Amino acid sequence: MERELALEFVRVTEAAALASARLMGRGNKNEADQAAVSAMRAMFDTVQMEGKVMIGEGEKDEAPMLYIGEKLGAGNGPKLDVAVDPVEGTNLVAKGLPNALAVLAIAPEGCLLHAPEAYYMNKIATGPIGRDVISIELSATENLNRLADAMQKDVSDLVAVILDRPRHKNLIQEVREAGARVKLITDGDVAAAVAAAQPNSSVDIAMGIGGAPEGVLAAAALKCLGGKMEGRLLPIDPSKFKSKEEINWDAHKGEPILTMDDLAKGDDVIFAATGITDGGMLRGVRFTKEIAQTQSVVMRSQTGTVRTVDANHRLDKKPEVFQKLVGYKK
Ligand code: FBP
Repeated sequence: MERELALEFVRVTEAAALASARLMGRGNKNEADQAAVSAMRAMFDTVQMEGKVMIGEGEKDEAPMLYIGEKLGAGNGPKLDVAVDPVEGTNLVAKGLPNALAVLAIAPEGCLLHAPEAYYMNKIATGPIGRDVISIELSATENLNRLADAMQKDVSDLVAVILDRPRHKNLIQEVREAGARVKLITDGDVAAAVAAAQPNSSVDIAMGIGGAPEGVLAAAALKCLGGKMEGRLLPIDPSKFKSKEEINWDAHKGEPILTMDDLAKGDDVIFAATGITDGGMLRGVRFTKEIAQTQSVVMRSQTGTVRTVDANHRLDKKPEVFQKLVGYKK
């Protein structure tokens, strides 16, 4: 992919973040998601590419979605696979909590996992130092011991980040018994996996079951960062259950292992994210009457370059359709 495309994709995540950030804290996650979806779609239409959504949000929560198979882009450009999450952490935006992102990953056609039936994925992720020692096949205890050795740390120095869900009760207990520290998060396991792969972050490893699209997005980022992620798709449709407590998560322990290359193949992957609310990874959107500020990150696996992009958007100079999407009033 031409490297100029990277900046085009930042414009897409910026648009989604601007639109949903306007609706922060209003208690309506679908409204915030819908705004981001519309902004993303509109901005993708300006990019010279023939994109197709391979894996995306939507069905899991019956949210407004960029649906799997949807064509994105202005056409007459490279054929690209797209993984998207216009709002990663819809609850976080609805409540004004930290770490909500607009996020996407792009790779040449045929390179991103196509998994229309999968809602969930069991995942493990860490940074470059641990890439040769961790595996989803091993127990949490073994992974922590091996990672501690590789990082020349004590297990008690490690921090494992895990979604705070009843399904993780045993995992959390095992990690605690192994001696590691635990950071429980309410949402947002893409940011968690990215943090686990970044030097000098406060977490060392991300573990547990989260969304399948989020797994592909995180794998794309980790490919750029030189980290490692493995996953197992869980063919579970939560809409078939009255509550998630009824799901037998352990029934899917034997699903095939997905390696980094199964999730995001090759070495031509771009990952872009813009902060919606403030977080450890990125600052959230700030608004004044005429200007909105965003902070984004864009990474390319080909070069391993990680760029932070701070932008001031002159809302008064944007096209009217965009002004509407971001709630600008003259
Ligand atoms: P949404 O953006 O769809 O709200 O996802 C937030 C999230 O916390 C993800 O980061 C995570 O992968 C997934 O939900 C976990 O799903 P569940 O909330 O069903 O446990």
